[in-house]
Amino acid sequence: MTQPCEIVQLGAKILRQHAEIVEHVGSPDIRQIITDMQAALAATQGVGLAAPQISQLKRIIIVASRPTTRYPTAPLMEPTVMINPVFDALSDEKEKDWEGCLSILGIRALVPRYKNIRVQYTDEQGRNIDIKLEGFIARVFQHETDHLEGKIYLDRVESPEDIISESEYFKLLS
Ligand code: NI
Repeated sequence: MTQPCEIVQLGAKILRQHAEIVEHVGSPDIRQIITDMQAALAATQGVGLAAPQISQLKRIIIVASRPTTRYPTAPLMEPTVMINPVFDALSDEKEKDWEGCLSILGIRALVPRYKNIRVQYTDEQGRNIDIKLEGFIARVFQHETDHLEGKIYLDRVESPEDIISESEYFKLLS
């Protein structure tokens, strides 16, 4: 039996499934999923989490960019719960940067992502939010929304040579 806050690991079938639209944002089951996601993320050095990672096939992500031991140079933002998130690229411009994933421990890879995006989502109070994101935070958002489509960041690497061990990644930073 998995614990509610346990982050499932690559190979778990749920990481390859499509998450469902959230119909009732304030319902007790959705509130519980969000609470479990917040607890799961707080117990890690991660900067984001998607509901399928705690075995819930709902379209909910948390983007929580902050400098951590996993991402020492990440910008600081308030942890933000985004329900039914969607985005459009504001330009075709992509950049490659390092990503990791709490469901794929021990490795990092260079992943191309849109640099500037327009994001729409529903917040926990049921309000429709429409914002622009760029750079690392846009990257985290795109990584997390991929989880809602059953995609992982390794699906997007351009070359197997862009995948490295986490210990080598930390050497690059120092
Ligand atoms: Ni991930």
